[in-house]
Amino acid sequence: MSAEGFFITFEGGEGSGKTTQINRLSRILTDNGRRVITTREPGGTSEGEKIRSLLVQREGGNWSAMAELLLLFAARTMHVEKIIRPALENGDIVISDRFTDSTRAYQGYGRGLEIDIVEQVNTLVLGDFKPDMTIILDVPPETGLGRSKRRLASEKFAEEGACEDRFEQLEIDFHRCLRQGFLEIAQSEPERCRIIDATDTEDNVAAQILALIKDRF
Ligand code: TMP
Repeated sequence: MSAEGFFITFEGGEGSGKTTQINRLSRILTDNGRRVITTREPGGTSEGEKIRSLLVQREGGNWSAMAELLLLFAARTMHVEKIIRPALENGDIVISDRFTDSTRAYQGYGRGLEIDIVEQVNTLVLGDFKPDMTIILDVPPETGLGRSKRRLASEKFAEEGACEDRFEQLEIDFHRCLRQGFLEIAQSEPERCRIIDATDTEDNVAAQILALIKDRF
């Protein structure tokens, strides 16, 4: 748990609208005089961004699930030590686009790694550090992947292989499993996790998120 600040994570499958909602929430909190740091995983530090390229780009490599897990936690430990913990100690609100729940959902439920192994590595690397609040944007994979593919098509990549769609390219069953994973994580930690129906309009989703945040502050 954070010492003084507040650590919020956004989670969900592909095309769930996390980035848009994080930007909206960050703007509202900043307008209300709060210091907000927005960040993302994998990434958040220059080292973590290098690992991100390996993991999410089409030509990043054919990593096994265990290798993905270790790369993700290598990036995560740098992220927590260099960015997240110092900001929380400074009293800031930190909003991260994904964190360990994504590893539980993608590498565990999606790629089939035992959840217990994910938990063991998590405890080894982070101890009992975890988000104060997690917002899971839930969307059926068919809808989310459609949105995500449209976004990727509109983005310009210097090279074809740099396109960040390594996970989008996996079959629909993978995405169904990880959606189920997020729902089960939320059920097992109802205090920390809230699920929001992300098929609703952008404004309605933003309003629901704001209601949750107001409740907690
Ligand atoms: P995104 O920032 O567009 O959501 O892309 C990040 C990708 O990385 C996404 O496909 C999910 C994947 N990912 C994992 O598989 N495990 C993780 O722990 C994290 C943080 C991300």
